[in-house]
Amino acid sequence: MTRVFSGVQPTGDIHIGNYLGAMKHFVDLQDAHECFFCVVDLHALTIPQDPDVLRRKTIEVAGIYLAIGLNPTKTTLFVQSHVPAHSELSWLLECITYFGELSRMTQFKDKSAGKENVSVGLFTYPDLMAADILLYDTNYVPVGADQKQHLELTRDIAQRFNNRFGETFVVPEPLISEVGARIMSLSDPEKKMSKSAEDEVGRINLLDTPEIVKKKIMRAVTDSENSIYYDPDKKPGLSNLLTLMSVQTGRSIEEIAADYDGKGYGLLKKDLAEVTVNTLKEIQDKYYGLSQDEIKRVLSDGAARAETIATKTLQKVQQKMGLRY
Ligand code: AMP
Ligand code: TRP
Repeated sequence: MTRVFSGVQPTGDIHIGNYLGAMKHFVDLQDAHECFFCVVDLHALTIPQDPDVLRRKTIEVAGIYLAIGLNPTKTTLFVQSHVPAHSELSWLLECITYFGELSRMTQFKDKSAGKENVSVGLFTYPDLMAADILLYDTNYVPVGADQKQHLELTRDIAQRFNNRFGETFVVPEPLISEVGARIMSLSDPEKKMSKSAEDEVGRINLLDTPEIVKKKIMRAVTDSENSIYYDPDKKPGLSNLLTLMSVQTGRSIEEIAADYDGKGYGLLKKDLAEVTVNTLKEIQDKYYGLSQDEIKRVLSDGAARAETIATKTLQKVQQKMGLRY
C-alpha cells in the first residue's frame, strides 16, 4: 500500500487555509493509502514558544485531526517529539545537506528577515521535515503551496543519499491541489492567510464562532469594481472569496462567478459566510465532544505504531552511513 505523510505545527490558530489547503485532503486520502499525520512540535520550537501553550496547542491540533474526520483505526496520528528517530535522522540529513541549499529556502528568508536573533533550528528546519517524510517510505505528501520548495529539497536529499549510499529512501511526491493550495488573508489578500499574523480578522480559525466568521467574511477586503470574475492579480480579494466558495462547495470557480455576476459582492459574501459556518460547525461539534484522555490515547497508540517503522528506517540509514557494526 502506498504511504502518505504530512504534518501541521501546533502554533497559532489552525485556520481555514490550513484546512482547505491541506488537512481536508488528508481525510480524502485515508481510505486508499496508509497514512501518517503528525503534530510537528519540534518544528514549532524553531521560534520561541511558551511551554504550556505549546503543550495545549499540541493536543488541540490532534483534536482537530480527529474532528475533521481522520480515523485513528485506519490512520496513524502522533506527535513528532514522541518518536525520537525524527530528531536523529534530521542530524544525519543535515550532514548531507549544503549550507547554500538551506540558504535558498524562501520560508527561511521570510521568517528571518529583519530579525536579529534567528535560531539555527529555523535554518535547518527543512532537514527535520525531510526526516519526517523519509522515515516512513512516504510516496505522497499533501501540503499547501508554501511547502513546495521544502518538498523539492526533500527529494534532492533523498536522491543524494541514495546515490551516495545505495537505494535507501523512497523519493516522495508532493500533492498540492489546484484550487485552494494558497488561501489568502481576508484583510490583506496579497498575503497568504497565516496562523501567526497578528491581524486576526485576516484569517478564519477553525474554532471561530459563527458570529465571528460572518463578521470576518462580510468585512473581507475586495476592490471597488462591481463585476465578478476570477483574476488573482487584479482582484485578489474577490478571487480569494471565489476560491473559498469553490473548494467548500465543489463547484467550479467559473460557475460561481457567472452565478453571482451582476448581483454584487454582498450576496457572495453572505452566502460564503453561510457555507463556511456550516463547514466549521461539523468540525466544531466533533471537536468539542472529544475528551483530552481520548486524544492522548490516540496519540500514544499512534506513536507506538510510528516508532516501529521509523526505528527500522533509522537503523538502516545508520548502517549505510557507517555508524553501526
Ligand atoms: P502550518 O501551519 O505551517 O503547519 O501548515 C499546515 C499545512 O497548511 C501545510 O500543508 C501548509 O502548506 C498549509 N497551509 C498553511 N497556510 C496555508 C494557506 N494560507 N493556504 C493553503 N494552505 C496553507
Ligand atoms: N513545514 C510544514 C509547514 O509548516 C509542516 C511539516 C513538518 C510537514 N514536517 C512535515 C509537512 C512533513 C509535510 C510533511 O506547514
